[in-house]
Amino acid sequence: MKLSELDTPALIADLDLLEQNLAAMQMHADALGLRLRPHTKAHKIPALARMQLEHGAAGICVAKLGEAEVMARGGIEDILITTPIAGDIKYRRLIQLIRDYPQCRFTQVIDNPAQVSPLATLATAAKVEVALMIEVESGQARCGVAVGDALKELIVQINAVPALRFAGIQAYSGHLQHIKGFAERTRAARDAVAPLFDYIERELKPLGLAPTVVSGAGTGTFAACEGLGFTEIQAGSYLFMDSSYRQIGDERGDSFETFHTALKVWTTVISTPTPNRAVVDAGSKCLSTDMGPAQPEGRSDLSYRSGGDEHGILTLSDGCAPLALGEQLMMIPSHCDTTLNNFSTLYGVRGDEVVCSWIIEGRGRSD
Ligand SMILES: Cc1ncc(COP(=O)(O)O)c(C=O)c1O
Repeated sequence: MKLSELDTPALIADLDLLEQNLAAMQMHADALGLRLRPHTKAHKIPALARMQLEHGAAGICVAKLGEAEVMARGGIEDILITTPIAGDIKYRRLIQLIRDYPQCRFTQVIDNPAQVSPLATLATAAKVEVALMIEVESGQARCGVAVGDALKELIVQINAVPALRFAGIQAYSGHLQHIKGFAERTRAARDAVAPLFDYIERELKPLGLAPTVVSGAGTGTFAACEGLGFTEIQAGSYLFMDSSYRQIGDERGDSFETFHTALKVWTTVISTPTPNRAVVDAGSKCLSTDMGPAQPEGRSDLSYRSGGDEHGILTLSDGCAPLALGEQLMMIPSHCDTTLNNFSTLYGVRGDEVVCSWIIEGRGRSD
């Protein structure tokens, strides 16, 4: 099928660019001597996770148990769940997941002693081992136990239960990913985790409590990990990229060119009410706005804003030729994760040919 034959709005992955992104991040991780454990919350598709593993990734991250269920069902065998869970329903689901997929290695992130004893009781009764990674505070003021005695005590508490295994430390500084300017971003990312690596050396190592895995960093900060003590990178957005990441800059300049914008939304002009205004069929239920408006691809003479759930308003700058009713336009999302979560299907495109499609199986699985 030709792209022009595809009904809209449609979520598109440019496969040539996506494959370049896959290879580029794996190459960077290899050069840094770090394992890549890509965050699949960006795509939520087991087939894409398999592509990442085939390119050399050492397992994947998911944000939620629901995504873990989707990925395990899709045949992925090493899954880190990066968001802490709380409550009996979730603890039981985790145990069930481990029982349902004995061939898989699941690791659950926690950050509180109160999560340990219910999991210990359930794991012991079910005769399974639960691997727990401790999230530490690394500047984001989101989840994470403070680096210090509370961290040490949590490790000791986990180690005391035969059915539990201390699987490492997660330090993800999400608030730093979009700092503009490579040098400033790198400095901030390294400063944020310096107390953790200092504490590991000074306090945990002498007690035999040092983690064998330290997992963290995203698309904006992976390069800052060099030589710090991280063992794996959790970047996710690199696979698709988006316009908000584009603006953060890299070593070479103001535009982040290390990865290509491979995720797009194909739209149709459904109304042309005035000479300088046209409306496309993709509003905020398609193109998320949490990181700003989408950008019409290759069209600096057009700007996009949401016109509501189902309408996207294009403003034509002076001199721009009028858009025709039915004309198709490609949009670059401002945020890949939240845009993808609006769609059921992702179409793979090479040039102007639609060559494959995937059901977005983890879509909406924030449970
Ligand atoms: C815990 C965690 N790790 C990794 C990532 C991936 O970051 P990015 O998509 O910026 O590469 C995220 C994204 O939100 C995250 O929450």
